[in-house]
Amino acid sequence: MLHSALMNVMVKAARRAGRSLKRDFGEIENLQVSLKGPANFVSLADKRAEEMLYADLAKARPGYGFIGEEGGIREGDDKTHTWIVDPLDGTTNFLHGIPQFAISIGLQREGVMIAGLIYNPANEELYMAERGKGAFMNDQRLRVAARRQLNDCVIACGLPHLGRGDFAQNQREMAALQPKVAGLRRFGAASLDLAAVAAGRFDGFWERNLSPWDLAAGVVMIREAGGVVGDIHGGDVLKTGNVVCGNEYVHGELVKILKPLG
Ligand code: IPD
Ligand code: CA
Ligand code: CA
Repeated sequence: MLHSALMNVMVKAARRAGRSLKRDFGEIENLQVSLKGPANFVSLADKRAEEMLYADLAKARPGYGFIGEEGGIREGDDKTHTWIVDPLDGTTNFLHGIPQFAISIGLQREGVMIAGLIYNPANEELYMAERGKGAFMNDQRLRVAARRQLNDCVIACGLPHLGRGDFAQNQREMAALQPKVAGLRRFGAASLDLAAVAAGRFDGFWERNLSPWDLAAGVVMIREAGGVVGDIHGGDVLKTGNVVCGNEYVHGELVKILKPLG
């Protein structure tokens, strides 16, 4: 498939860092049984992938700013462009040998997301989108699902866990949504949840307290697949991290239920 020069840069960077993550993922099984466990190893894998992404993206587009989960903000001379990168989204899955994790690369121009790539090196699913040019998984054009009734819908979500999130609020959300939908799912990598909405696998997704690097690429992916994505209360989702998405109907239904809950 023919990509733009920009997407080529992103794909090349993601594939190189992806090879490194995949090698490290292969080691995890052996490390599970060691006393120390694989946690330190994973945090090294994560940092290594981010350094590779930074090196490749900075080389191809000198001057662009870079925000990465591991290394924080690196300013560039070009104040209009910023990469927003999660080198390993789905760390807990990775750590447990579950092949549901991804590299997420978003590019922002003057505050607008203009390109996104989400890549799961474990199954080679590569999602790409550019503003105005559509969304693709490998060679296949993506389109959000068309279902309009929540009772037909499979909806993905995030879940609070030890040390993270508001349990009471999540329980209110579950109580409100569970009886209304065909199924709820928690896969554990927000970028891939967003990609799955773009691909029409999930009808919708919501999660609170995400970070910009979880969302940046997925936002443009969903918009280019014809979906609606935003903050539950209508603010800037990259700032609030409280995301809700789906086609326009499912998005609207989810907002109606979630908004009154906080
Ligand atoms: C996490 C994953 C997870 C979401 C968490 C995120 P990480 O990112 O996207 O699905 O529920 O809130 O922090 O830590 O694996 O990069
Ligand atoms: Ca993440
Ligand atoms: Ca991460």
